[in-house]
Amino acid sequence: MTKAIDQAAQELLFTNANTPANFTAEPVTDEQIHAAYDLMKWAPTAFNAQPLRIVLVNSPEKREALVERVMEGNQPRVRAASQVAIIAADLKFAQHMPTINPGMAGVPLWQNQEFTNNLAQSQTWLQLGYLTLALRAQGLGVYPMTGIHNDQINAHFFADGQLQTIAVLAIGNIDETAARPRNPRHAIETAIQSI
Ligand SMILES: Cc1cc2nc3c(=O)[nH]c(=O)nc-3n(C[C@H](O)[C@H](O)[C@H](O)COP(=O)(O)O)c2cc1C
Repeated sequence: MTKAIDQAAQELLFTNANTPANFTAEPVTDEQIHAAYDLMKWAPTAFNAQPLRIVLVNSPEKREALVERVMEGNQPRVRAASQVAIIAADLKFAQHMPTINPGMAGVPLWQNQEFTNNLAQSQTWLQLGYLTLALRAQGLGVYPMTGIHNDQINAHFFADGQLQTIAVLAIGNIDETAARPRNPRHAIETAIQSI
């Protein structure tokens, strides 16, 4: 018996899940975001480091402050989406090692700030991919944005330097009437080689 997910689930996560042109006005609740987190947290990271942090930007003042710190083309989306999240890397993730990976808690690696900063960033990117799919698994649409002013967002929202902005996510219910064609993807021959 196959363990593969069925066709409908594959469509929801991948083949029929584009970066949505538009969202409906229907709100996304914090509970839906929490449900997505409760799925994606089980996907693996190096050293089980789990550096991704999600900052939901809900208050009108904070939302407008974020709008001012993303590139112009992304501003309407950040202003209008039901939920907007700053995805940040916790540069002090290693302080949680005694709980999340006790066997590695005492190693000298965690004293090397360059190593931990790089790991925080790479593993946050990895977790951002997982989060995108987990939000889709809740039936939601996700619009990731790196057209943002990272330094300005960091200075305004994360002045103490512990969190470092990676991306901004607009999250909403997909407006199916505004569907746009998928961007093409590489053929297997371009992406995979056997040596
Ligand atoms: C990490 C990441 C950052 C992105 N940043 C932006 C952005 O700043 N502005 C934008 O319009 N689209 C942005 N996109 C959207 C991509 O262009 C889009 O997901 C890609 O072309 C695939 O589209 P499709 O899945 O609808 O075919 C981003 C996507 C990802 C995954």
